[in-house]
Amino acid sequence: MNISEILTKDFSADSFFEDKVREIARTVEDGFAINALSGGVDSSVVTILGHKALGNRLKSYFIENGLMRQGEPEWIVSLFNDMGIPVELIDARDDFFAALKGLTDPEEKREAITQTFYKKVFGKLVKDTGAKYLLQGTNYTDVEETIAGIKRQHNILEQLGIDTQEQYGYLVLEPLIQLRKPAIRELAKLLSLPEEIYNRPPFPGPALATRVIGEASPERILLVRKATLIVEEELQDSGAFQYLAILHQDKVTGIKNGQRNYGFQIEVRCWESKDAKTGSPTRLPYDTYDRLADRLTSEVPGVVSVTYNITKKPPSTIEAV
Ligand code: XMP
Repeated sequence: MNISEILTKDFSADSFFEDKVREIARTVEDGFAINALSGGVDSSVVTILGHKALGNRLKSYFIENGLMRQGEPEWIVSLFNDMGIPVELIDARDDFFAALKGLTDPEEKREAITQTFYKKVFGKLVKDTGAKYLLQGTNYTDVEETIAGIKRQHNILEQLGIDTQEQYGYLVLEPLIQLRKPAIRELAKLLSLPEEIYNRPPFPGPALATRVIGEASPERILLVRKATLIVEEELQDSGAFQYLAILHQDKVTGIKNGQRNYGFQIEVRCWESKDAKTGSPTRLPYDTYDRLADRLTSEVPGVVSVTYNITKKPPSTIEAV
């Protein structure tokens, strides 16, 4: 790989920030750039960097792909608007669900999401705005896993030999590509992003589609969204690196109201990790497991079984897809 990681011992948030602002301004010159904000720490930092470098020559968008968590699009847009950074919400739900229809293979789902983001949605936005650049928050772990052939991270393009200018009509700038999560969080603090952003657990670009095994249909996404809300409420004070709910494809026999009920299975994962490269399951108090099982089976329609992942990464990965 021709990208070198900046190790924590060699990282200074102040000078990194200044270098990147200068670099973005020099590259874009007097032109325009766009960026997609998802509200994760990576894309939030990139939004601020780009805004400092380009001012209103950066147009920021939140892509509502239908795969986000409960209330997330509106919350993130208003949070950034309150910080004086205008973010426009783009409703692309139909595009994403059309692309995902009938797909069950994990890598095909990821590819469909990548194409919808980069070709369809960003392709149209650069045309509409006249922008030549897309600014995005790809980090070192994303590149590493894709190159290693573990998982095709949705935002890896150039490193896979994709010529974005030729295929999508714009160039991609990735100012965080040499950093891992801890350094990006440090930058977020320096930029005075609120704690709810810099301490936010990671959330993948393909969003809840990585947490539905099998077809990511609107109905199944709705189900995993409800489960996610409960898991996040119950585990937000766990101190874990990341926690999530996964909807399994197989159904299992359960009992509801004294009757056989062939229903859904939710798998809960909760990870201890520094940078998502490796991880181990958090040893949660047994009362927490009890509460998760009770709430998920009573509040998410059709769920009759809840399991907890006890596998380390590797051989598991953090997301299921
Ligand atoms: P895995 O599942 O590969 O995840 O162990 C490692 C970390 O990356 C996140 N993740 C992604 N982030 N685009 C992203 O921006 C993706 O396609 C993607 N897939 C996984 C995951 O949540 C974890 O923090």
